[in-house]
Amino acid sequence: MRALEKRTIERMDHTQVTFLGLGALEIGRNWGMGTDTERPDEHTAGRVLNEALDAGLNLIDTASAYHRSEERIGQFVSGRRNEFVLASKCGEHSCEPGTYYDFSYEAVTRSIDESLRKLRTDVIDLMQIHFGPDPEAVIRNGETVRAMKDAQKAGKIRFLGASIDGKLAEECIRSGDFDVMQMAYNLSNRGNEANIALARERGIGVLVRCGMGNGLFTPRVLLSPDRLSEDVRRRLFDSLDQIGGDPEQAIQTLMAINLRFLYENPGISSVIVGTKKPENIRKNMALLEQKTEDGLYARICRIWS
Ligand SMILES: NC(=O)c1ccc[n+]([C@@H]2O[C@H](COP(=O)([O-])OP(=O)(O)OC[C@H]3O[C@@H](n4cnc5c(N)ncnc54)[C@H](OP(=O)(O)O)[C@@H]3O)[C@@H](O)[C@H]2O)c1
Repeated sequence: MRALEKRTIERMDHTQVTFLGLGALEIGRNWGMGTDTERPDEHTAGRVLNEALDAGLNLIDTASAYHRSEERIGQFVSGRRNEFVLASKCGEHSCEPGTYYDFSYEAVTRSIDESLRKLRTDVIDLMQIHFGPDPEAVIRNGETVRAMKDAQKAGKIRFLGASIDGKLAEECIRSGDFDVMQMAYNLSNRGNEANIALARERGIGVLVRCGMGNGLFTPRVLLSPDRLSEDVRRRLFDSLDQIGGDPEQAIQTLMAINLRFLYENPGISSVIVGTKKPENIRKNMALLEQKTEDGLYARICRIWS
């Protein structure tokens, strides 16, 4: 099954992660496209997490900035800790209802300790820098990486990652400091294509965020297409026209095509799809299995290129 195909991250001591992972932003913080953005209640969050593991996904991505997310992971699945690779982030901090940035040595060290406590674990497999409005300054300063490396030496985290796009992502890859990069990528957003290839060459893992276009390649988009830019709306409706049939059905095919586009890239280790709905996990697994005729696939890829 494609969703459960294991991809190896060389720089993480050859850790294997399932192609489909779980983004745990939505279970901790209000998020998403359009309406229906409220985080789920406690019980549903627990179901999302357990359903992801029951379905066989073995990677969960969270962050100290995702409000209740780390705490809920600790509460509901810390007893299943050996079943998943745990990735979190530091640098952006939760202060409900908002967040703030502090990349200093002290703040990052404190944040890692706090994440360990909330997650109810002894070690976090991957700690990523959660870059904010001035990523260049964070990279130049070097304090954040120093704090992360010290936490690694102390056995609190196993590997280092960076969540960033574009030119600075390339710089992070070339720096040699990071074992994994988290980058945005999907059919409509291919800006990190060269970065994904470069990371692959160097054995660096790639976690894809916004793999579903933050809801663009899901039925959610049909609820409020007026929120899209004119260009994106045109591409969306061109795609649905090409696929044909009623839009509700066509959007399912478009989701499957977008997932196939990601699956066919060997540089992607895992796509950490976010959801607050337990049922969407197996739906996405099924969509990854859906076959699309090659001609249609190529036409849709062209529309979004
Ligand atoms: N700076 C950063 O480091 C950063 C930023 C953003 C995200 N992330 C990480 O990346 C993960 C994913 O990013 P993302 O959530 O922005 O984008 P995404 O995975 O592209 O899209 C998630 C959205 O798609 C919807 N969705 C998923 N499967 C669906 C299905 N089968 N049917 C209908 N809707 C579906 C979800 O809605 P429902 O909840 O209704 O299912 C959710 O709103 C996050 O959870 C987080 O871990 C990191």
